[in-house]
Amino acid sequence: MHGLDVSENMLARARETTADPAIRYERADLETLVLAEGAFDLVYSSLALHYVENLHGLFEQVRRGLVPGGRFVFSVEHPIYTAPARPGWTRDPDGRLAWPVNRYAEEGARSTDWLAKGVLKQHRTLASYVNLLIENGFTLARLEEWSASADDVAAHPDWAGADERPSFLLMAAHR
Ligand SMILES: C[S@@+](CC[C@H](N)C(=O)[O-])C[C@H]1O[C@@H](n2cnc3c(N)ncnc32)[C@H](O)[C@@H]1O
Repeated sequence: MHGLDVSENMLARARETTADPAIRYERADLETLVLAEGAFDLVYSSLALHYVENLHGLFEQVRRGLVPGGRFVFSVEHPIYTAPARPGWTRDPDGRLAWPVNRYAEEGARSTDWLAKGVLKQHRTLASYVNLLIENGFTLARLEEWSASADDVAAHPDWAGADERPSFLLMAAHR
């Protein structure tokens, strides 16, 4: 298994928490990644692809890197979440989390305040994620729009309002 990230800090953290000798961690920029042809059964990405500008090029490489029938599974911040009207969560006067959406159809880099100020994320519509898969020869197997549930909010009262919109988009496709 190859584990890729552009951040040495994240790779160091991953090495600390896993000890399987079958895993090889490597620093790589997903903007320019080149994968060996037919080398992988599964490509999996967790919450990284909404930082990538050249997603078409990356999907092309993922298809090239997979064996026929190989699977591509990824999660991203939901498109509603990457098109905020303001740079971060705010709270309504009643204390509920508010996330007004702005210029949903306008794709491209958006600046948000998340852990640090001015973090750039690439906003794409839901249709663009689906069409990028289709254009690169993938068959979509499953799409989920994860949202906090009423039970989640009951367990974490400060999440009130987060159950009104999906936070994550999860997609499973195959070559
Ligand atoms: C929200 S973190 C997710 C980390 C990890 N995948 C997880 O699920 O816990 C986003 C990750 O995307 C990585 N990332 C952002 N842009 C990247 C790029 N162009 N190439 C490779 N990794 C990138 C960041 O370094 C960061 O580790």
